[in-house]
Amino acid sequence: MTSPAPRVTVLYDAMRWEEKALMEAGRREGIDVRMVDCRGLAQELDGRDAADAASAHGVVLQRCVSYYRSVHSTAALEGLGATVINPMMTGVLAGNKLYAHMLLKKSGVPVPKARVAFSRDAALEALDRTGYPAVIKPTVGSWGRMVSRLTGRDAAAGVLEGREGMYPLYHVHYMEEFVDRPERDIRVIMVGGRAAAAIYRYSGSSWKTNMATGGRAEACPVTAEMEEICIKAARAVGGEVVGVDMMESRDRGHLVHEVNNTTEFKNTVRVCGVDVPAAIMRYAAGRARGKDGA
Ligand SMILES: Nc1ncnc2c1ncn2[C@@H]1O[C@H](COP(=O)(O)OP(=O)(O)O)[C@@H](O)[C@H]1O
Ligand SMILES: [Mg+2]
Repeated sequence: MTSPAPRVTVLYDAMRWEEKALMEAGRREGIDVRMVDCRGLAQELDGRDAADAASAHGVVLQRCVSYYRSVHSTAALEGLGATVINPMMTGVLAGNKLYAHMLLKKSGVPVPKARVAFSRDAALEALDRTGYPAVIKPTVGSWGRMVSRLTGRDAAAGVLEGREGMYPLYHVHYMEEFVDRPERDIRVIMVGGRAAAAIYRYSGSSWKTNMATGGRAEACPVTAEMEEICIKAARAVGGEVVGVDMMESRDRGHLVHEVNNTTEFKNTVRVCGVDVPAAIMRYAAGRARGKDGA
């Protein structure tokens, strides 16, 4: 008798190129792929039926774009006994730039110099001590939104002033040195402890290199040194499938500034020609079969 196909549920809240590619790759690989729109999910949290419903999902590949939907749906499913890639704590830790920075540093991953302040005045004082230019970021956010370069005290005071009237998340001032780097950064897609592929992301209309700002991508060779940093970075947040973002500093080599919990990989596939979705689905199927990976 042949064993049943491993079941992988792709949990999404927007059907982007990535989610379609995961679905198609999974089907090609003979995996029992279920596509579940998280926006339609109402999950019982108690009783036997609830646990059965969670186990019926098999291994869940978390793909929600919304940070809150992603972390909370993972919490619900994991709490009922489901295996979710990535686990809830990875979403929480990688999704917060301060938590991630502290964990990466502890794990020996090179990171930009950073500081945190809990009021506008304390932030300005910290910046006076460390100097300009600097970068201020929301602890939770993506696509470069609300990430600002602070060129001097006036610019900093203006940005901090604006933050005063916002949601309390923006009253936590997480700041980094402005890293002296080329007009690009590097995104490495990590799958099950290995680098699947990497791209350089060149700035478009902004000093930021997020693809959302209209930049361009180029294939980036992954050196052994880079892979070692990325393995440590993924491990630091317990990530199984993550995008590790790093900058090439002129004086200190590669510095990791972010680990993405539900990483985009469309441009990586396009410019590297590596079948990233198949690698991810094979890995998830391996977990569904109770192995460490495919
Ligand atoms: N310390 C820094 N020095 C120079 N550029 C930075 C620094 N931090 C971030 N950037 C640039 O800003 C972009 C967005 O920052 P990031 O921390 O990745 O936030 P987001 O989660 O919004 O993508 C990065 O891709 C990079 O190009
Ligand atoms: Mg980023």
